[in-house]
Amino acid sequence: MHQVASIDWKAIREDFPILREQAHGHPLIYFDSAATSQKPRAVLDALRNYYEHENANVHRGLHELSSRATEAYEKSRQRVASYLNAPNANEIVFTRGTTESINLVAQAWGAKFLRDGDVVLLTEMEHHSNLVPWQLLAERTGAHLRFVPVCDDGTLALDRLSSLLTPEVKLFAFTHVSNSLGTINPVRELCEKARAVGALTLVDAAQSAGHMPIDVRELDCDFLAFSGHKMCGPTGIGALYGRAEILDSMPPWHGGGEMIVSVTLEKSAFKKAPHRFEAGTPNIAGAIGLAAAIDYIERIGRSAIFEHDAQLAGYAIERLAELSAHPHDLTTFADQYGLAMRGGHHCNQPLMRRFGLPGTTRASFYFYNTKEEIDRMIEILHAAARFFS
Ligand SMILES: Cc1ncc(COP(=O)(O)O)c(C=O)c1O
Repeated sequence: MHQVASIDWKAIREDFPILREQAHGHPLIYFDSAATSQKPRAVLDALRNYYEHENANVHRGLHELSSRATEAYEKSRQRVASYLNAPNANEIVFTRGTTESINLVAQAWGAKFLRDGDVVLLTEMEHHSNLVPWQLLAERTGAHLRFVPVCDDGTLALDRLSSLLTPEVKLFAFTHVSNSLGTINPVRELCEKARAVGALTLVDAAQSAGHMPIDVRELDCDFLAFSGHKMCGPTGIGALYGRAEILDSMPPWHGGGEMIVSVTLEKSAFKKAPHRFEAGTPNIAGAIGLAAAIDYIERIGRSAIFEHDAQLAGYAIERLAELSAHPHDLTTFADQYGLAMRGGHHCNQPLMRRFGLPGTTRASFYFYNTKEEIDRMIEILHAAARFFS
């Protein structure tokens, strides 16, 4: 609390040039950070600096610029590793984001280790990106999918775990924080229970990586996936953390340059992890931008960010209780007043069905949002209620 109170959040807001934009003639209120966050100037500057002073391909040319680009790219990998407290930078594979990280595990690990009759355990609250890759894999391998149900209060039915976590379960893949409900799952406990039956674990950290401290050693997970663009970084970059011995046991999934040791016309030998999973020219600028985003977030402090987000959410819930009507077309109405929220199923169709909802309107906050913006949201929602009634 003390830490949060001592931070100048208004000054932090000034770091985000886009927050000065107008939308439909009104000051922009950006409440869609769960979809993608805005980017601070430090990240924009890092991207520009890379292209102005370091741009070259990595691991290839024997020239000064290529050395600079390679060094910056690999330093970014170390930065991600230290952010997650991963024991080794070789346990970090750069990907396009959470979706690609999960597909990598499904295709590289799943195709080798899953057999007919094996089970992948998921939950009813998974984002489509932690559902569809497993459906595709199940079709190919004959493996089955099983789901931890969601209770009426939005938490996982943990009392069902012991009957669901049977020895056939080879992997338990679940989200850290739900993108529709905001539920924070007890990751460490889930990993421990999975390990007890010999199952590996994959944590979808898309909604947590930029919002709270994450320590893969403490969580004791086998894989963890996240996206840079939801935590102040650029789009098109993210990472997969994988325990070293597991990554090393997995075959490549994409073939091409960068990931090989030697190639003949008939056959190739592959590099070790993580490079064997990064075929072709990677998103070098993205990785550098992600490292800048991590530096930025850590300067503020993840615990303080968590506390600040929680205070805003608590305040919003309190004020939303004043509203009696549930107008339709809320998202479109709000947009006319500069209020950017997200309407729809949020890539959570099974979860929406579970609660009998066609969709929801989601206001998601980040550390650059303010109570005044929430007050303005409430005014706009009252106007919407009057308009639609
Ligand atoms: C919980 C969760 N998982 C996965 C994703 C997919 O992330 P990306 O589209 O960046 O790959 C999202 C994005 O909304 C999410 O909220």
